[in-house]
Amino acid sequence: MNPQAPIGIFDSGFGGLTVARAVLDQLPYEDVLYLGDTARAPYGEKPLAEVREYALECLDHLVEQDVKLLVIACNSASSAVLRDARERYPVPVVEVILPAARRAVAATGTGRVGVICTEATATSLSYDDAFAAAPQVELHTAACPRFVEFVEAGITGGPELLACAEEYLKPLQVADIDTLILGCTHYPLLTGVISYVIGDVTLVSSAEECAKEAYAVLTRLGLVHETPRRSSTRFLTTGSPDQFARLGQRLMPGMINIVEQFS
Ligand code: SIN
Repeated sequence: MNPQAPIGIFDSGFGGLTVARAVLDQLPYEDVLYLGDTARAPYGEKPLAEVREYALECLDHLVEQDVKLLVIACNSASSAVLRDARERYPVPVVEVILPAARRAVAATGTGRVGVICTEATATSLSYDDAFAAAPQVELHTAACPRFVEFVEAGITGGPELLACAEEYLKPLQVADIDTLILGCTHYPLLTGVISYVIGDVTLVSSAEECAKEAYAVLTRLGLVHETPRRSSTRFLTTGSPDQFARLGQRLMPGMINIVEQFS
C-alpha cells in the first residue's frame, strides 16, 4: 500500500460528500479522490444486483487510480457489496453500515433503535445482519425513498419535506425508539428536519461513524500523514461536472474545487 496515495471515496452521488467532509475533518492532511456515480443515481430505488454492478465498476476504477483506502460512502452500495468488496481489493475497505450499527448499540438505553434508509438498503436487511450480534436491540427500519430526491434537488427544508418527514418517521415515533441511525449518506444533510420531527432521540450519522472507522484503519496500518501538509481533493463524476460542482458547492460550501468527468 502506498502511504502517499489518496483515500478513495465512492458514492452514488452527492450524499457521500457528508462522508468526505467527516473524513477530512478527522484526517486533515490526507488527499481524497471522490467518485460520485451521479449519472446512475439514485441507487436506493434500484435492484440490489444492479447497484452491485455499478458499485463494483466505480470501486474498480478508484483502485486502478491507486488509493490507500476505499471508503464506500453509500449505504445502498455498502449493502450490495458488503460481502465481497473486502476480498476483491488489495486495499482496506471501510463501509458505512457496521460502524453505524456499533455506535447505535453503544448509544441506546432502551434497546429500541430505528434506522432510516433507502428501499435498497431496507430490502438487503444489511442493518438487521449488522445487529445480529446484539440481540438486545429491537430494530425498526423505515425506508424514506423521497429524502434522497429532496437532497439531490438541493432542498433541505420547507413544508413539503417536513410533511414527508412526518409521514416517514411516524412508525418510529410509535415504536418509541431512543436512537436513530441515519442510514443513507444524504440524510445528515436533513438533520434539522429529522431532529425536529423525531424529537429527543440520539441521531447516529453513518457518515461520522464511517469517518472514525477510516481513521482507525489508517492509524492501525501506519498509513496516516502525521505532519501538517496541504491536502488535495479531486472529484470525479459520471454525470455533468458543472452540475456536480454547482450542487456540491451548495451542499458543502468551500469543499468542491475541480470536478472531472469519468465515464
Ligand atoms: C442512493 O443513492 O439512493 C442513496 C445513497 C445511500 O444509500 O446512502
